[in-house]
Amino acid sequence: MSPSLSSPRIAIIGAGIIGLSCAWELAKRGAHVTLFDSGFYPGRGASWAAAGMLAPAYEAAAEPGANPRLFDLCLKSAGQWTDMSGAIAALTKRDVLHSIGPSLAVAQTAEDRIHLAGLAEALNARKIPFDVLSPGEAVQAEPCLHAGNKGALRLPTDGQVDNRLLVEALIRALERQDQVAFVTGTAPLALVQGKIVLAGFDRVIFAAGWETASVRVGDTTLGDIAPMLRKIEPVAGHMLAFNRLPDGPEMTVRSGALYIVPKAGRLIVGATVEPGETSTRIDSDAINRLEAAAHALCPMLKRATIIEAWRGIRPGTPDHAPMIGALGGTGAFVAAGHYRNGILLAPITAQIMADSVLDGKTSDLASAFSPARFAAATA
Ligand code: GLY
Repeated sequence: MSPSLSSPRIAIIGAGIIGLSCAWELAKRGAHVTLFDSGFYPGRGASWAAAGMLAPAYEAAAEPGANPRLFDLCLKSAGQWTDMSGAIAALTKRDVLHSIGPSLAVAQTAEDRIHLAGLAEALNARKIPFDVLSPGEAVQAEPCLHAGNKGALRLPTDGQVDNRLLVEALIRALERQDQVAFVTGTAPLALVQGKIVLAGFDRVIFAAGWETASVRVGDTTLGDIAPMLRKIEPVAGHMLAFNRLPDGPEMTVRSGALYIVPKAGRLIVGATVEPGETSTRIDSDAINRLEAAAHALCPMLKRATIIEAWRGIRPGTPDHAPMIGALGGTGAFVAAGHYRNGILLAPITAQIMADSVLDGKTSDLASAFSPARFAAATA
């Protein structure tokens, strides 16, 4: 950023949780920010579909094929959530129901036990605290669990936030700021001598989730200009919500790919993992299978009723980690590809992006998530 720009004008393409959080941080540091979103309601894509888990341990500590620094990134961001939710609440008087944890990771099969042993080993290696629970202790910790469970890990690092309340509160918080504007529609971007430009703005940040590579820039797409962005792959996921029962569950419980996350008035159950799928049409068989899996983990949920079902689309990447940083020589920036951790990684993404866009700084941790890591594979 030129030192002469004390209050730069920044365009953000995409107003999901990542675009909104970047806007929040940039405005806090004095920038003028305009968010462009083609959806009628901003934040109604992956950010709305999510379960709001802030789960560095379960999602990233022992995730096969993940970027080796993903756990560090997730852990650091989890630690920033208390400040972020507090600041949003102070400005808007809205509680986004942030809980720092714990969550329970439960084994139902011998294979799950092996998975949890691997997770415990990874956490021990990093000196991250957790408790090993016998099947009986797991039921004591969360009475919804099937008595036949095969033991659990209690993960104090893994909490949650209500992602829908969060998106709404963050939009309200941004709307209250004079230097932030929302535009419904596409931005008239152009490519001029290899640079991505938008008239009236000093910098452009792309944060359009799984659709980032398809954003139009003049008569081409962003993916044609920066081919590494084509590595962002849609990964659909079916989810459902039960009504809350008076007797629980009270904690987030996870087992394999299944999770049950208590929210105010509902219990979210997820999720399928459907790589390459861009349809949000609901397949009732997938919902029936999720319901049956939830019943097997927590038999009391047979008394609950499904009140909502949906299918969202995660922005996957080959190393399950986001691309955050400058887009080569285009002059533009990207913050996309957060896969399963978009809500968790919002605060740290915003911080990395503001450091990079406003101050030209990239920390050692941030450099591990540069989009350049995929450049060779797509050149
Ligand atoms: N973060 C959970 C999921 O993507 O299903």
